[in-house]
Amino acid sequence: MIIELKGVKKEYSDGKNKKITPLNNVNFRVNKGDFIAITGPSGIGKSTLLNIIGCIDKITSGQYFLNSINTDDYTEREKSHVRNKYFGYVLQNNGLIPYRNVYDNVSVPLMFDKKIRKCEYKEKIEKALEDVNMADYMHRNVNELSGGEKQRISIARAIVNDPEVILADEPTGALDVDNKDIIVEQLCKLNERGKTVIIVTHDLDIAGRVGVQYVFNHAGQLLQADV
Ligand SMILES: Nc1ncnc2c1ncn2[C@@H]1O[C@H](COP(=O)(O)OP(=O)(O)OP(=O)(O)O)[C@@H](O)[C@H]1O
Ligand SMILES: [Mg+2]
Repeated sequence: MIIELKGVKKEYSDGKNKKITPLNNVNFRVNKGDFIAITGPSGIGKSTLLNIIGCIDKITSGQYFLNSINTDDYTEREKSHVRNKYFGYVLQNNGLIPYRNVYDNVSVPLMFDKKIRKCEYKEKIEKALEDVNMADYMHRNVNELSGGEKQRISIARAIVNDPEVILADEPTGALDVDNKDIIVEQLCKLNERGKTVIIVTHDLDIAGRVGVQYVFNHAGQLLQADV
């Protein structure tokens, strides 16, 4: 999957008559297998960018291509297919469904894919849990897990559908140093296996450990960082 944004602008209304423009003329290309870190101050547009890449949010102007296809040409149905098939999301606060077990949580992306039969779920979930070293946790209630364990479950949920791209929005923001390292190592491992990984982080140590770094400036542009 080649991700390409050309002159992308994203504008929001502030609820009155002023516009907020988190993305302004963003030109950004991500090749298959890249590992990219995006940093920048709070409120600058990092999550907005991930939401656009993951086809959750729409651009105001410019062009967004996936494998050279302009995403403007997608129907809503095609968009939701692309969203579920090609992208896995990891969020800062894991976004797990509380009081449900690990199996139920990791199965969520599978339920959106009508081609996957229920009888295939268990094997896929087992494999995803093995990948994050959580194979024994399938029947545990997520409320009983530590923050680091929950985040590993949220990675399992992101990869259960075998997406090409992992979008990780501050995945270690709520973790201590040891758990942070585990999560970063797992993202590195997924990248070594060919997944594209885009991570948004405030943590310059993490940003320094990945392939390419980008930083947002106050003009809403995304620039490759000098390292
Ligand atoms: N749905 C929305 N409606 C209006 N404004 C929005 C919306 N979503 C985001 N914004 C605004 O867009 C700007 C960028 O937000 P975004 O969430 O992308 O920042 P961020 O860089 O991810 O910040 P943080 O590091 O705090 O997560 C902010 O000013 C925010 O208030
Ligand atoms: Mg954010």
